[in-house]
Order: sequence, then structure tokens, then C-alpha cells
Amino acid sequence: MKAVKKQSNSNKGEQEFEKLYHTLLKGIFHTEQAILKALPEMRTHATTQELQEAFEDHEIVTRKQIMRLERIFKTLNIDAKSEKCEIMDTYSKMVQKLLRETKDHSMVRDAGLIVIAQQIEHYEIATYGGLLQFALALNDHKSASLLEESLEEEEQTDMDLTEIAERDINLESAEEEEEEEDDDQEDANDKNDADHKNEGSPYRTDYSGNPADTEDSEKVKKNQKNFEERTATGSPTLKSSAKGAAAISKNKAK
Ligand SMILES: [Fe+2]
Repeated sequence: MKAVKKQSNSNKGEQEFEKLYHTLLKGIFHTEQAILKALPEMRTHATTQELQEAFEDHEIVTRKQIMRLERIFKTLNIDAKSEKCEIMDTYSKMVQKLLRETKDHSMVRDAGLIVIAQQIEHYEIATYGGLLQFALALNDHKSASLLEESLEEEEQTDMDLTEIAERDINLESAEEEEEEEDDDQEDANDKNDADHKNEGSPYRTDYSGNPADTEDSEKVKKNQKNFEERTATGSPTLKSSAKGAAAISKNKAK
């Protein structure tokens, strides 16, 4: 009798585990569809051609990932139905805020788009990584190999974005900073305006050259060092992204 009860509990646990697996699959299905809608706008507002192409490529990848999920639903004999996941609402609001707060055709906007895109990538990497473990635990090897393909694509996209941040954003951002410094000289008589422009902006770029910014510059360097130390033992993906984020911060700290 006890053995039967134990088996029944174990079956119940497995059923709940399977149910959660299906819920998570439907959640990432919703996320992928939302990403597909968001990518054209991100591409339109990207400044560098490299970033525009990266977003365009990711649209193709996302379509494939949606098809993979549909195949998984078919294999599992469940409806290919998405379950609303709030995460993309948050990221969409972040993109809108970035577009309001940065200039058209600016490198700062590209840097912001890269950060948001990598935040989305990290969410997807964590989700596909978790789903892969669920599939393996449930001996669902067919789905596991499809999930692994998507996971590898997300990791590759994350690395590509890091490369763009390092290769294409830094130097041009520095030039943009110089232009802004020149503008600041011309607007020296309009101090209130200049103060307003710099106050509280997450994309503040004038860390160099102004004695008043020395303290900020030191803080940025210290935060960057702490960030690099914290991520030094992480996964290759996290290390890669930390490198990209650090490259952008380093540029600001110059
Ligand atoms: Fe994706």
C-alpha cells in the first residue's frame, strides 16, 4: 500500500513538472513572437549598419526559433498556444524611453539598444537553458536538441552584440563626445540648460575634460572594476557580455 502511495506521489510530481515545462514553453513562445514584433523598430532606430544588420539577422533567427517551438508542441501533442509573458512589455517600454531620451542617429542610442537587446538575450538564454534541463529530465530528447539549437543561437547573438559594442560603438562614441564638448563650450553662457541636459541622464557622456566630473569618472572606474570582478567566474556568455558592457563604460570613463 505504501509503495503504491509513493508511486502515486511520484507520478503527481512528474505531472506537475511536465505541466510547468509546458507553461514555460508557452511563455517563451509568447516572448519570441513579441521579439519578432519589436525587432523592426529597433532596426529602424539603430545608427550603425552593423547593428541594423544584427537586428535583421535576429529576425530570421527568431522566426526559426518560433518554428522550432511549434515542432516541440507538435511532438508533445499540445496546442501551440502562447502564454502571456510580461517581460517583453517591460523591454518595449525601455526601448520607447531610450528613443525619447537619445538623439536620432547617435552612437549613444546604439549603445542603449545593444544593452537592452543583450538583456533580452540573457532572459532567453536563461529560459532556453532551463527548458533544456526540463526536456532532459523528462527524457524528451527530440525537444532537447531543438531547444539546444535555439540556446546556441541566443548565445551567438549575445556574443555578436558584444563584438559590435566593442568594434563599432566605442570609437565613434568618443568622436560624438568630442562634438558634445564643443557644443558645451558654445553654450557656456546657458549654464542652466547645460545642467538640465546632464542631470540624471543614464546616458551621460561628458565624463572627461571637466574637473567637476573627476569624481564621476572615479566612480565609473570603480564600478567597472567591481563589475568585472563579479563576472570573472561566470559562464562564457556572461563573461562575453560583461566585456561588452565594460567596453561601453570604459569609453565613458575616458
Ligand atoms: Fe529568440
